[in-house]
Amino acid sequence: MGLITPSPNPAGILGDLLAAALNQNLGAYSIGPSATAMELRVIRWLNDLIGYDEKAGGNLTSGGMMANFTGLKLARDFTTGNTAQYDGLQDRWAVYVSEERHVSIDKSVDAVGLGRNNLRVISTDENFCIKIDELEEAIAKDKKEGIKALCIIGLAGTTNLGAVDDLEALHKIAAREQCWFHVDAAYGGGMLLSHKNKKLLKGLHLADSVTIDPHKWFYAPLDCGAILVKDHDQLTRSFGIQHAYLTDQSERKNERYQFYVNGFEQSKRFRSLKVWMSFQHYGKDQIGEWVDKNVEQANYLHQLAINSKDFESATEPKMSAICIRYKAEGLTNEQLTKLHIDVAARIEKEGNFWFATTILKGKTWFRINPVNIYTTIETMDALFPYVLHIFKVAEGLRHTTD
Ligand SMILES: Cc1ncc(COP(=O)(O)O)c(C=O)c1O
Repeated sequence: MGLITPSPNPAGILGDLLAAALNQNLGAYSIGPSATAMELRVIRWLNDLIGYDEKAGGNLTSGGMMANFTGLKLARDFTTGNTAQYDGLQDRWAVYVSEERHVSIDKSVDAVGLGRNNLRVISTDENFCIKIDELEEAIAKDKKEGIKALCIIGLAGTTNLGAVDDLEALHKIAAREQCWFHVDAAYGGGMLLSHKNKKLLKGLHLADSVTIDPHKWFYAPLDCGAILVKDHDQLTRSFGIQHAYLTDQSERKNERYQFYVNGFEQSKRFRSLKVWMSFQHYGKDQIGEWVDKNVEQANYLHQLAINSKDFESATEPKMSAICIRYKAEGLTNEQLTKLHIDVAARIEKEGNFWFATTILKGKTWFRINPVNIYTTIETMDALFPYVLHIFKVAEGLRHTTD
């Protein structure tokens, strides 16, 4: 329950076993024809879930990091009129995202040659969503200095808390600034399958590109991320290079889709099989039920926390990530941070549970994130008193050493 690595679904595990045996390579159609057909199918399904039309495309990737990187590369190329892939970045540009972003965004702005200092980190409101007025101010300030918007990134399911930015407002601003609009739904994409809260990702289809990780909340075994792109042709414009030995000169070349011409990776494994088998075997309704159960478990834990005098919860969870914090009387912020880190280490050592600590608006919290198909409400009933007990023991020890 610490990070976002669910227990994989059994059909997906078999899919990966078969994929290893078949050893299809998407590096070229000729050495991976079945994998090419199936990846195209899975990409289509994901695009249907987002609400993209037939012009959309995409790539399965190793995860959200590579998907966000690809999204940023598409942004850079599109916004510079498809010149940056040849000439590099010529003018001064900035990318805008909230403080709740995943670290993959920082790495991506670096990797596409923009530089981390040109990532504008915008504060979030009380719901941990990007502050639109602060974003507008940052864009206006940059414009005055001759810096143009290259990309606006929306978060549809923050890593810490599953918060969702106002995607419709962000799209409007990106359209006005004529820049790319990328949405990171690496974790939150699972909510597209939810039966209970389908509208949470409202406006996702407005993005130019979207990151969704099937190896997160679609319960597929590692590894499988996805970059989904509203206009498939931007993939070709951004990546399309064909070397002679890879050029398909057969009569059927137009029917043979080449992922390497439309994406970053060359040799690439048959990732789609496990996702396809999961959906074939369980159906999206069953997977959606698992998602809803995880959301229920997080909400249950939130209720336990807010009904207890000893804990606070950062916000009511919209997804399955929840942050709770122990409220010890008379401790400074620094002492509380140390206490949380000590307790997390003690819990790790005892081996019954494991979850991460994180920082939200300067305070340390436990980040607890049920994404397991076998987790139940009873698990939460066991977890909560256990965590309280470890805090009390740690506090007792602290008083003794004081
Ligand atoms: C919102 C978000 N984006 C991107 C990533 C990176 O994904 P991966 O670890 O699959 O590369 C994560 C990982 O937790 C994430 O939560």
